[in-house]
Amino acid sequence: MNNGAGMRTIELIAKKRDGQKLLKSEIQYLIDGYCQDYIPDYQMSALLMAIYLKGMDAEETACLTEAMLLSGERFRFKEVSPKVDKHSTGGVGDKISLILAPLVACCGIAVPMLSGRGLLHSGGTLDKLESIPGFSSDLAAEAFHQQLHSLGVVMAGQTARLVPADKKLYALRDATATVASIPLITASILSKKLAEDIDALVLDIKCGVGAFMQTPEEAKNLAASLISTAERHHLPTTALITNMDQPLGYAVGNWLEVREVVNCLQNKGPADIMEIVYALAAHMLVMAKRAENTSRAKEILDKKLRSGEAWEKFLNMVQSQNGETRYLRNPSLYETARYEKKLYAPQQGFVTRIDAMKIGMSVVYLGGGRAVKEESINYKAGIQLNVKVGSQVEKNDLITTLYSDTPISETIINGVMAAFKIKKKPAAETTLILKTLSTKNLL
Ligand code: URA
Repeated sequence: MNNGAGMRTIELIAKKRDGQKLLKSEIQYLIDGYCQDYIPDYQMSALLMAIYLKGMDAEETACLTEAMLLSGERFRFKEVSPKVDKHSTGGVGDKISLILAPLVACCGIAVPMLSGRGLLHSGGTLDKLESIPGFSSDLAAEAFHQQLHSLGVVMAGQTARLVPADKKLYALRDATATVASIPLITASILSKKLAEDIDALVLDIKCGVGAFMQTPEEAKNLAASLISTAERHHLPTTALITNMDQPLGYAVGNWLEVREVVNCLQNKGPADIMEIVYALAAHMLVMAKRAENTSRAKEILDKKLRSGEAWEKFLNMVQSQNGETRYLRNPSLYETARYEKKLYAPQQGFVTRIDAMKIGMSVVYLGGGRAVKEESINYKAGIQLNVKVGSQVEKNDLITTLYSDTPISETIINGVMAAFKIKKKPAAETTLILKTLSTKNLL
């Protein structure tokens, strides 16, 4: 680092630390400097923490999004239309994209999906896909383009050429407790989505104990930030705020979740997962003008799922990205984790809570997530639930099984047990889809 650049970076970190607004040129300088390696991780970490604590206004957020977008190339898929994508703000057991992307692609809509890796307790689409032996999420632009053209669906990651700023910042945020920040999440998601050259976007804003936004108010603010920043970049966007108090479905952990995806695509998926898949996918069909309303869209989607077309599309996508589909056709071929621990209900009653944050963090401790950015992931590690909130259990019924390749400590077991609440009376039923927002009803 030369001294001039070092000084300027320190001044800008201090400016944000003191709650002042950064200018477009300053944000551009910081992102360029980090991507070109003359701003080191430790300075960027300090800046991220200052943004986390002091926030950014709408203009700064839009500038950050643009600077990150411009850090790499943008796709141009002129001959492919319509193109619509979906993105989640991150949850536990959130495998929605893996089911939704091939399903929507079966309805004549191209889905060029750039996804992320696990962040803290929340799993990442790329990690899940990479648990399939051979699967490559690191696609060159030409290969991405070709597959979108031939199959209508691609699921890949940021690369050195595509949104490299997000690739670097995402990993750094994960390791510096700076994930749950509205401007940082907004810029991270939209820089990827704007690089995809899509016509419309549907967002799943997770809200609850297992989400980065824990209250409806925070979730609404994140939705507003995402929708208004997308609007500044002329990208029509709809956001659903969905409940993330308990994990989605029954599986948490990369390969366990892929196994659950296989069930969903074979029309044997849990009700909560399928409700969210259909709700988000229906908005994609409506925005792409492939259905006149969401009810009609759900009928179309249901047909595509039941006919097996979506399952075939998923297999074709995995194969095209070098994944070994025999593990999907026959999941029992996959090696199982060395250690397994079954946990039982301590008393009879109703499950009233399964704390998604505690389950998500336990999966990280079992080896299924990252605590520091260079850490590798054990795809077999995870937690398989046997119950959901509302389930009735007898004393000593199996409630969950833990999987890991390293011995499972008492601390992890206690953490998982603490996630469950079993009471004499069932809890009041909760709604899964809390709100639907779009440019029209937000701005
Ligand atoms: N998903 C992303 O792509 N980025 C975030 O910051 C959070 C979720």
